[in-house]
Amino acid sequence: MVTEQQILDALRPIEDPEVHKSIVELNMVRSVDIQGDHVKVEVALTISGCPLRTVIENDVKKALLNVPGIRSAEVVLGTMTDEERAKFTSTLRGDRPEHQSPLLATDSKTEFIAVASGKGGVGKSTVTANLAVALARKGLRVGVIDADIYGFSIPNIFGLGDRKPTVVDNVIIPVGKEGVKIVSMGFFVPENSPVIWRGPMLGKMIRNFFNEVHWGDVDVMLLDLPPGTGDVALDIHQMLPKSKELLVTTPQSNASEVAVRAGLMAKRTNHEILGVIENMSYLECGKCGDRTYVFGQGGGARLAEALQVPLLQQIPLGVAANEGTGIFAAESSQGKAYAALADDVAERLGQTAASRK
Ligand SMILES: Nc1ncnc2c1ncn2[C@@H]1O[C@H](COP(=O)(O)OP(=O)(O)OP(=O)(O)O)[C@@H](O)[C@H]1O
Ligand SMILES: [Mg+2]
Repeated sequence: MVTEQQILDALRPIEDPEVHKSIVELNMVRSVDIQGDHVKVEVALTISGCPLRTVIENDVKKALLNVPGIRSAEVVLGTMTDEERAKFTSTLRGDRPEHQSPLLATDSKTEFIAVASGKGGVGKSTVTANLAVALARKGLRVGVIDADIYGFSIPNIFGLGDRKPTVVDNVIIPVGKEGVKIVSMGFFVPENSPVIWRGPMLGKMIRNFFNEVHWGDVDVMLLDLPPGTGDVALDIHQMLPKSKELLVTTPQSNASEVAVRAGLMAKRTNHEILGVIENMSYLECGKCGDRTYVFGQGGGARLAEALQVPLLQQIPLGVAANEGTGIFAAESSQGKAYAALADDVAERLGQTAASRK
């Protein structure tokens, strides 16, 4: 006779396709009824119109039919009661006091990297997104927080279109793309609301990005900051005292000079600067490989020198692979530069895909 325990063990490896946790641990298996070689299992979904219901249904059925002694299986999908949903969300949150995110706990293994620049338009968001993808391609678990209240360009760079995160009882499930978990201010702020209203909301919002978001395990969290040394950058530095920083500049002197100020602020607040990334460094001829330094040369090196930190990478100019997004293909020269940058950054953090397993 098959036991309920055997059935639960068989279902344990099945994850909720959105939150990537076992449906058994999430208390989604409401009942198990075994009659000889027939089993009927009831699974409670968070919302009735759950778009992934057939995925869960098929996975459960397949697992049940794999249990020795079971010949037929029936899966009934239900919707969680308020009480069940409360249990589900508290499991997601890990029942921490005041819902403090495990990412912010003092023993958190997550490395935070704030990506900053002195000036706008140097490619800070493009660098954040492409570095995130390159780290994910290496096998690291990566999150991106788009904290640029003036821009929110991360959703566009990833080509998210109208995709918005799922919210279950105030727990936000990040949007996944290219192996990266993404949360953007842009998901929550109406596009045409004036920047002046966004400012005061931001500190609270960023706190919520940790406490109300189910991130799961994240090795590296990249934060796209607004340009300059404004309140947001300061807030982040205070909220994440261990966060490290990457500085993005272009080869022009004016860009690198203002970036020095952003870098000095990081230094003053005791945040380690991992290094400088020079973006739009040159245009490479597709035929002969000759490099044209469209915006001059030396900005990255000068910034690195001024702050006594390494110049990590120079990213050439180019058009992203997929029309309408800003993610470069792995085999493009930009993609290779990002792969090298990801190797370097991971090494500086002491993170390799192998070491986290
Ligand atoms: N290496 C590159 N080659 C060509 N275009 C690039 C490159 N990097 C960035 N761009 C383009 O430059 C523009 C500005 O980039 P991005 O939005 O990433 O900059 P930013 O510093 O985040 O700007 P903002 O201050 O508006 O937030 C975008 O149109 C982007 O596609
Ligand atoms: Mg930006």
